[in-house]
Amino acid sequence: MNKFFTPPSPLIDRFGRQVNYVRLSVTDRCDLRCVYCMSENMTFLPREQVLSLEEIGRIASVFVSLGVEKIRLTGGEPLVRRDLLDLIGHIGQLGLQDFAMTTNGTQLSHFAGSLKAAGLKRLNISLDSLDPAKFRRITRNGDLDKVLEGIEAARAVGFEGIKLNAVIMRGRNDDEVLDLIELVRRLELDISFIEEMPLGVISEHNRHETYCSSDDVQQIIEQHYALQPASMKTGGPSRYFKMADSLSRVGFISPHSHNFCSECNRVRVTAEGRLLLCLGNEHSVDLRAILRRYPRDNTPLREAIIDAIELKPEQHHFTTDGDVQILRFMSSSGG
Ligand code: 5AD
Ligand code: SF4
Repeated sequence: MNKFFTPPSPLIDRFGRQVNYVRLSVTDRCDLRCVYCMSENMTFLPREQVLSLEEIGRIASVFVSLGVEKIRLTGGEPLVRRDLLDLIGHIGQLGLQDFAMTTNGTQLSHFAGSLKAAGLKRLNISLDSLDPAKFRRITRNGDLDKVLEGIEAARAVGFEGIKLNAVIMRGRNDDEVLDLIELVRRLELDISFIEEMPLGVISEHNRHETYCSSDDVQQIIEQHYALQPASMKTGGPSRYFKMADSLSRVGFISPHSHNFCSECNRVRVTAEGRLLLCLGNEHSVDLRAILRRYPRDNTPLREAIIDAIELKPEQHHFTTDGDVQILRFMSSSGG
């Protein structure tokens, strides 16, 4: 082949979108029970149904051979999985442009240094409240101080980027938007405000009543700080802004109020190895069956992934009318 010829990526879907970003869930378990994410009594997957770290590593390698440049590890909470650092070391050597993880931060003070050393480049840390009692209520027993220590530890080891994620719910933590902004300005971190998504059946609150749109959050911030659109494109649901007097970027993840599907560049793999083509649709392909049928040959896995991209739906259909459209919880979908 002519060395100047770049073959078209095999991962372009029917709508011309190139998939170059994969989110891999390494566990459905978590040490917290955030009210928007889980029910109080969750039943988790039996271990044999969860992919081994080696199987997840095979999936990562195949995606990278197909042109994927960005991988994010998610959960549940990735750090509750034993030996996760082995997987991080493997993926860290695949030559990715970007390698990130979403975490709740409770164990970061312990793991930050080894995560960085194993090749992880960026972290998203979930933080919805700076009030210890409220934090405890939203996470159903989380300890705010541990997460704040985790954030400090992550800053100290010098990741390429650290972003906080806050799900904003009316009447629960919408009064903390500015406090969170002050925190990221002080610590020189980025932040994304997220509209709650209708994933999984929850009983703790009515999602219709607590819905707080990104535009509402943006208005709260703009009463104090002018936000200038930043050009950063993520191929996802986020829109980013800058503030004149700070390095911190402010993002809004708005699955309800701003449809982003036409630019979607990502797919997800659940902890049990289901390849999800879209967070808001039930389509999926069982990669675990293929991995286990062909333990030493990645070709069938590669072909299944190429074929699956054909199924990527054009858009999601979330609404805020209280209907749960997707029965999977976020913790089993991979953040
Ligand atoms: N809607 C929006 N965000 C959610 N998360 C979990 N469940 C939901 C939901 N239903 C987010 C958390 C965390 C990440 C793992 O996913 O805020 O940042
Ligand atoms: Fe755990 Fe994250 Fe879900 Fe909270 S949002 S219960 S931290 S997986």
